[in-house]
Amino acid sequence: MPHAAITGWGTSVPDRVLTNHDLETMVDTTDEWIVSRTGIRERRIVGERDTTTSLATAAARQALERAQLSADELDLIVVGTATPDDFLVAQAAMVQAEIGGNAGAFDVGAACAGFVTALSVGTQFITSGTYERVLVIGVDTLTRYIDYTDRSTCVLFGDGAGAVVLEASTEERGLLSTVLGADGAGHKHLYVPGMANLVPESADLFPEYRPYLQMNGKEVFRFAVQVMGEAAAAAIEKVGLGFDDVDMLIPHQANLRIIDAAARRLALPREKVWVNVDRYGNTSAASVPIALAEAADAGKIDDGDNVVLVAFGAGLAWAAGLVRWGTAGVARLATG
Ligand code: ACO
Repeated sequence: MPHAAITGWGTSVPDRVLTNHDLETMVDTTDEWIVSRTGIRERRIVGERDTTTSLATAAARQALERAQLSADELDLIVVGTATPDDFLVAQAAMVQAEIGGNAGAFDVGAACAGFVTALSVGTQFITSGTYERVLVIGVDTLTRYIDYTDRSTCVLFGDGAGAVVLEASTEERGLLSTVLGADGAGHKHLYVPGMANLVPESADLFPEYRPYLQMNGKEVFRFAVQVMGEAAAAAIEKVGLGFDDVDMLIPHQANLRIIDAAARRLALPREKVWVNVDRYGNTSAASVPIALAEAADAGKIDDGDNVVLVAFGAGLAWAAGLVRWGTAGVARLATG
């Protein structure tokens, strides 16, 4: 059975920076409150020219360049996103229009768990022998649905994209285990009210309608602390490894306190946990691939390392997996 090694990775975030001090001038909050409750210091927000497509495309181009592949060589593009630019057209197709090729292209909707879920979908196409090269993207521009007068949500989110290229490998590389779950009854704790209500004809019927993210922070927090540790532990155990075998934890970057709780559950020291929530806030489906790419670029992940990805989000959903890093066994990259 082939495996699905990660042979390229890339990221993109908007240029526009929104700091905690900026937010102090917009809502009744303080830098001290935000840092102590979330660990966030600043986040990147889409500007006029940024779209989900533009961010995803930039990350995809970087990932393809690192893999030294052209878009024509891809068999499939899978995008995890909750904020596509079009209701009808798959975000993956919008990216393809920019990068080229005729690969299959579809989206996966699992909010902040979207990238890890999409990675598991892309991996299955390779391990089943159906395809050889898959581009997986996690992207969101959730700040388009944030009410910047609501201090309980507007301090948390940022925008961005991350992408990886998967290629068939004869060695145990790439995603080796997957743990997916959802508690659909919890959907009421984190949602953006029905988009169908956006049609002008129905506006009179829904005078209170605001297309803004609604969140019960305490419930989501409780849920996240529980599932992040449990899902990550299950992903490690599924491949017969122990917590000591983990070289790096790449958790969804929503809140430093949630990340710390997951790390404690796995008894991991801080240097084995990648944290960038201070710089980007919660970038939803982009958070895990951006953190993964940063850890790789910083030289903190070596060939053969065991890297645990874990995320939670609206659904309420969760997704985790153990990735073995490196490109061993990818025929195209074999030397000598
Ligand atoms: N600045 C100052 N005060 C604030 C702010 C703010 N930005 N936001 C809330 N407060 C106030 C509240 O009004 C409350 O005041 P009160 O006690 O007078 O009522 C007080 O601070 C404490 O509020 P709590 O909600 O208890 O604060 P908590 O410690 O739980 O932190 C937080 C809130 C950060 C939202 C936390 O609950 C959390 O991180 N939850 C998880 C959210 C999350 O990760 N969501 C994304 C999921 S991923 C996806 O799919 C998009």
